[in-house]
Amino acid sequence: MNILFLNGPNLNLLGQRQPEIYGRTTLADIEAKLREKATKAGVGFDFRQSNHEGELVTWIQQAPGKFAVIVLNAAAYTHTSVALRDSISAVGVPTIEVHLSNIHAREEFRHRSLIAAVCKGQIVGFGESSYYLAFEAALQLTAS
Ligand code: DQA
Repeated sequence: MNILFLNGPNLNLLGQRQPEIYGRTTLADIEAKLREKATKAGVGFDFRQSNHEGELVTWIQQAPGKFAVIVLNAAAYTHTSVALRDSISAVGVPTIEVHLSNIHAREEFRHRSLIAAVCKGQIVGFGESSYYLAFEAALQLTAS
């Protein structure tokens, strides 16, 4: 069983980017912790980041048959991307939406997620722990 973690634009800057909102942990730190958890749980794991919408779409399209679950922090594309939403619907791989910050408590344009309705669920507002909670949710999804 393999889980695919996808990260959208500007998440490569985690650690330096608005630490009061996103914390000081880097994306590489999060990846390392998840790798440990995946090893312990005996599941395969891939972790990727792109600043390009089309690259994220391609990765989602390539997921069926290789990954049982996608955990997606689409970052700013969450609020704008019909293309990402369509690719999640098209492939039918259960997808968990994650965000470090609580998008519902921030600017109004962040309250709307175009991908939420095609995801299994949404985990927001727990900082880096949003990823670890999503990992647990992914394990449960594949166990059921
Ligand atoms: C984010 C929230 C988005 O609104 C924002 O554009 C991001 C990060 C988060 O993880 O809190 O880049 O997805």
